[in-house]
Amino acid sequence: MTIATTHDAATALFTALTGAAPAGVWSAPGRVNLIGEHTDYNEGFVLPFAIPHRTVAAVGTRDDSRIRVASTFTDAPVEVAIDELDRLFPTPTGKTPAVPEWAAYPLGVAWALRQAGTTGSGLDIAIASDVPVGAGLSSSAAIEGATASALNDLWDAGLDRTALARIGRRAENEAVGAPTGIMDQMASMLGQPDEAIFLDCRSLEAVVVPVGIAEAGLAILVIDTRVKHAHSTGGYGERRAACERGAAIMGVPSLRDVSVDDLARAEELMDDVTFRRVRHVVTENQRVLDMVRVLREQGARAIGDLLVASHASMRDDFEISVPELDTAVETALAAGALGARMTGGGFGGAAIALIEQDAVQRVSDAVTAAFADAGFIEPVIFTVTPAAGAHRDA
Ligand code: GLA
Repeated sequence: MTIATTHDAATALFTALTGAAPAGVWSAPGRVNLIGEHTDYNEGFVLPFAIPHRTVAAVGTRDDSRIRVASTFTDAPVEVAIDELDRLFPTPTGKTPAVPEWAAYPLGVAWALRQAGTTGSGLDIAIASDVPVGAGLSSSAAIEGATASALNDLWDAGLDRTALARIGRRAENEAVGAPTGIMDQMASMLGQPDEAIFLDCRSLEAVVVPVGIAEAGLAILVIDTRVKHAHSTGGYGERRAACERGAAIMGVPSLRDVSVDDLARAEELMDDVTFRRVRHVVTENQRVLDMVRVLREQGARAIGDLLVASHASMRDDFEISVPELDTAVETALAAGALGARMTGGGFGGAAIALIEQDAVQRVSDAVTAAFADAGFIEPVIFTVTPAAGAHRDA
């Protein structure tokens, strides 16, 4: 879907639901992360950019105090009284939300805004999206960003983009029950065409960094393995716990406070698995800083080795890759990519590859063939460019 058809789909759904036109239409993008994986909840550094794929929310106010959410990817709308949100959320750790999971994202945003002291009239919310779900491209942050932007306007909350990103993360952590960091919501709120967002996840200070990929004659290919992941269960939370354990052993508040020079001491103090989790985060933070410097000083052609090193660290030390992601990365590199790595939380989802603009077809064909040879399901492959963050569309 293009943004125009996603926009039309959300508006048509709204009208089918209410018989009226929406008060407005808001949208927010998914993201890819260039580098800096599992560093956000360790108060470290990340370098994501927003992608052209967006979630659109067509929203109108109601005369009563109820919220109804509908989405093109499910049949039944979900309707609750606004007061009831405080009974439905937070979702206890390890439990599934008291509403269907997709509805916990927009309703969780309304709940988080109420927790932050803002509320307003009843709402009808119709959602459509062309961000692939479960692909590690932050479809959830896109729903949160579109909903938070709409409610910020319609409930006169007056929050800035960083505050709206925090609202989105609160919905994700406490309403959906996924223990994620803030990278995705910040990328979705702050994205700008042609820029990546260099974010310090401790201070939430964000600086835009020109990526210059197109100017260098290059493209970013996304290889969606279609292996679905969910961060509300299992591996993601375990990795987070290992990082907290490592920080406690080192006697620091978070792994942000551990440097590459401290790793020899860390290795003496902890078991092998905890050490390798720590080493990934510590070296990945350094790779983000290195990539920002390399992009500024040498340009996009010079970042390939950092991408490859990041993937190796996630595969061997953090152990969050899967065979499909490794095949995508290895095949893209063998077909001439300058660099490649899995992107997002891992355990499935997508890889990115930095390639020559004229190599899109060749690299895509090579990856598709390698997947077929390995007996994997066929990947979905497309290019992305850095795009705008959340905004009101109409
Ligand atoms: C998911 C989470 C983010 C981040 C990444 C890994 O996308 O939502 O907060 O932790 O995984 O870098």
